Amino acid sequence: MSKVTDTPFDVDALIADPEIRVVVCCGSGGVGKTTTAAALALRAAEEGRRVVVLTIDPALRLAQSLGLTALDNTPRPVAGVDTSKGGSLDAMMLDMKRTFDEVVEAHATPDKAAQILQNPFYQAMSSSFAGTQEYMAMEKLGQLRTQMADGERDWDLVIVDTPPSRSALDFLDAPKRLGSFLDGRFIRLLMAPARAGGRAGLKIFSAGVNVASMVMTKLLGGQMLQDVQTFVAATDTMFGGFRERAEQTYALLGRPETAFVVVAAPERDAVREASYFIERLASDGMPLAGVVVNRAQVLGAKQLGAGRAEEAADRLESEGSGHSLAAALLRIHVDLAETATRHRGVIGRFRASHPGIGVKVVPTQAVDVHDIDGLREIGAALGA
Ligand SMILES: Nc1ncnc2c1ncn2[C@@H]1O[C@H](COP(=O)(O)OP(=O)(O)O)[C@@H](O)[C@H]1O
Ligand SMILES: [Mg+2]
Repeated sequence: MSKVTDTPFDVDALIADPEIRVVVCCGSGGVGKTTTAAALALRAAEEGRRVVVLTIDPALRLAQSLGLTALDNTPRPVAGVDTSKGGSLDAMMLDMKRTFDEVVEAHATPDKAAQILQNPFYQAMSSSFAGTQEYMAMEKLGQLRTQMADGERDWDLVIVDTPPSRSALDFLDAPKRLGSFLDGRFIRLLMAPARAGGRAGLKIFSAGVNVASMVMTKLLGGQMLQDVQTFVAATDTMFGGFRERAEQTYALLGRPETAFVVVAAPERDAVREASYFIERLASDGMPLAGVVVNRAQVLGAKQLGAGRAEEAADRLESEGSGHSLAAALLRIHVDLAETATRHRGVIGRFRASHPGIGVKVVPTQAVDVHDIDGLREIGAALGA
């Protein structure tokens, strides 16, 4: 591995930069986005920033330690944070349906809003349209950023986690997809064949609305058409607002005050996904701060390499009984050492093919990260 291509990712400089107002943690599912977002937020808060972190799907125990027991879509102070440098940490968990409802309430008269919120088509769409969670995460980010700008809340940094979609690209694609769905023209297009009595409209619906089969059954048939018609009538004036908002938030993501942190696992596929995402950020003019390779197996310089551990295990075993426990431990070490070598290779190749992009390797912890102390340790690894 050539050292020449190793560009460090200075995470502490990023979170200390007062010009940075929004940090977005992206990556494919399960790589540690939520953990990284929470750890960055805690570290930034303990370094003196006034942080709000928007988590999307925190694991239960992590949610509990962040005080996220009520799903009420409101940021609340996190206990156990060292605020001696003047910082603070508020955390919230995204309630997708509630956020959608809030958008409706903000854009329609109270009467109309009530009508829409009760509409069965709206209810199905707001909780299961493909991309709703991504759209609502952006919507919430926009709201938090506005509250910060208006001085309504005393924050100076918003850190957002992104939804657990398979692909990180979904986060960037969803607003446009949902925006064009909510655009009146598309719905009217759908309505035309349906009104004529054909089933073509329903087919398009099944493609766009990814609903559970029970809801689907409820949706098919005359009742659905009526619901959709009522929905369209009620929301006629709202679509523009939706689209505009999605565009505004998308633009916010491209501002220099925003920094994307791409999280990846040290595995070939995860790293390839991360590369796609990085290309996409570049082509959309979105600012990438760096890449976090999370859960890497690392071997200390003084630790035994795989080859020597294997030799030793073989030797112990050939010496006969009495050494079986030591030999078994050595074999476990062989596994770890091999994983470490593989991870180092993946990371090295990634670095070599992305010179100039900062990379931070976060070692895998012995236990899951589910409390403030665990987050602080991840934060220390991020800052190291
Ligand atoms: N560096 C790490 N070491 C050990 N466990 C980790 C690490 N990072 C994340 N985890 C664990 O991996 C699981 C998935 O992490 P999470 O942040 O929820 O991923 P994502 O949000 O990308 O789906 C969680 O149980 C978390 O505690
Ligand atoms: Mg997550």
